[in-house]
Amino acid sequence: MTKDKVLIFDTTLRDGEQSPGATMTHDEKLEIAELLDEMGVDIIEAGFPIASEGDFRAVSEIAERAKAATICGLARANYKDIDRCWEAVKHAKSPRIHTFIGTSPLHRAIPNLTMDEMAERIHDTVTHARNLCDNVQWSPMDATRTEEDYLCRTVEIAIKAGATTINIPDTVGYTAPVESADLIRMLINKVPGADEVIFATHCHNDLGMATANSLAAVEGGARQIECTINGLGERAGNTALEEVVMALKVRGDIMPYETRIDTRKIMNISRRVATVSGFAVQFNKAIVGKNAFAHESGIHQDGMLKNSETFEIMRPEDVGLSGTSLPLGKHSGRAALRAKLAELGFDLADNQLNDVFVRFKDLADRKKEVFDDDLMALVYQNDSGADRLKLKSLRVVCGTEGPQTADMTMEIDGADVKTSATGDGPVDATFNAVKSLFSHNARLQLYQVSAVTEGTDAQATVSVRMEEDGRIATGQSADTDTVVASAKAYINALNRLLVRREQSEPGYDVKGVSYKDAN
Ligand code: KIV
Ligand code: ZN
Repeated sequence: MTKDKVLIFDTTLRDGEQSPGATMTHDEKLEIAELLDEMGVDIIEAGFPIASEGDFRAVSEIAERAKAATICGLARANYKDIDRCWEAVKHAKSPRIHTFIGTSPLHRAIPNLTMDEMAERIHDTVTHARNLCDNVQWSPMDATRTEEDYLCRTVEIAIKAGATTINIPDTVGYTAPVESADLIRMLINKVPGADEVIFATHCHNDLGMATANSLAAVEGGARQIECTINGLGERAGNTALEEVVMALKVRGDIMPYETRIDTRKIMNISRRVATVSGFAVQFNKAIVGKNAFAHESGIHQDGMLKNSETFEIMRPEDVGLSGTSLPLGKHSGRAALRAKLAELGFDLADNQLNDVFVRFKDLADRKKEVFDDDLMALVYQNDSGADRLKLKSLRVVCGTEGPQTADMTMEIDGADVKTSATGDGPVDATFNAVKSLFSHNARLQLYQVSAVTEGTDAQATVSVRMEEDGRIATGQSADTDTVVASAKAYINALNRLLVRREQSEPGYDVKGVSYKDAN
């Protein structure tokens, strides 16, 4: 059976990163883009170049480095946005401009344009984009709540003006599978010129139907799915890349479509996105959740031992989970560590391997067996050499007899400073100590602990989200000592807030479109 190709358009670095708190650093964006390119993503939406200097720089650098993927930037429906977007993507081997405007009644009210005025704006801006770049994507934002006739009219205008991909966004996650398929089918049947472009689907997950809606849109004729790793994105997120890709792979019998994705790379990029975005993956998340391949109940284990297909519809190896993997221990040397990391998909330079080896030895002294998940936590430990704040030492007194006290030494801008603080529990005392050494007004929005592996000597991964003047940053750390991990995660979030403070970039909301500077 020949299968139709479905293009995978990943927007982790744009729509995903737009999620409050998910902001990534420049280097993290480059790294994620490289992983997406390597895994076979067809189009990477790398950012929104007009939003900030940082976004512009990230999109430009990703465009210059990309090997196989098309690199796309987002632009509102005005010349300034489109020009800036082109400046950022033009050095890519294969650049794309993605321009959009909200076409539903509610979205039309924002720029206060009549239907005719908006139609003219679409014609002018798509024409302008097409004069710059021969690969132009156009999106009618909130398409699923736009009047059918007007949607057809605007799509026709965009096609005539030179759009090569028409993306149909379900911006608020409102549609349902039958409707999603019908909408694409209707547009393909009704709009003149529809057979000359690719239709894309872009779904949000507010009702938990993003994956189903995207697959239904493919049934209706869409040949590009827009998605993010782990379903990252505002509110309930976007369609999860791993879900649509694995659904097409596993159910190729009823959905005869193929993607270019190397599914064995899914697990690694999922973990990396979770770490850099600070959005942990829920345990029972399809495909990439910790429990997705765990069969712990007695009946399941028995069935699994007899035949793994009893309860498994895909093999763990297909998504990049290594099967039975022997843990390392304190006698394991550098060569064993390098081999194990290679098995897990990490190809580290010598100096990076040295750093990880030091952390590995330290961990192996405290923990009998070092599992794959422990190693990943070590590799991803994000204490950058450039950090202004560092934890040097921590001693905490806690238990039933208060007060809980934290004695702490930190290095701040190269100088050691010490304090002792009390609090309501060891974590509170620790955070108070950091605050007394480095005074700040950031508010703790989220504090989350999870065990990396099983056993009482397991490392704890701590995620912390902080907010200061509308800027949000997340920090993460792992340690066998939960309080040490908490202190490091808190300091990591503060370091990220400091970077953001220095960049002093105002938060930019794609959906709060300003048309003042249009054209
Ligand atoms: O959800 C949405 O409508 C978007 C557009 C900018 C394509 O992300
Ligand atoms: Zn979106």
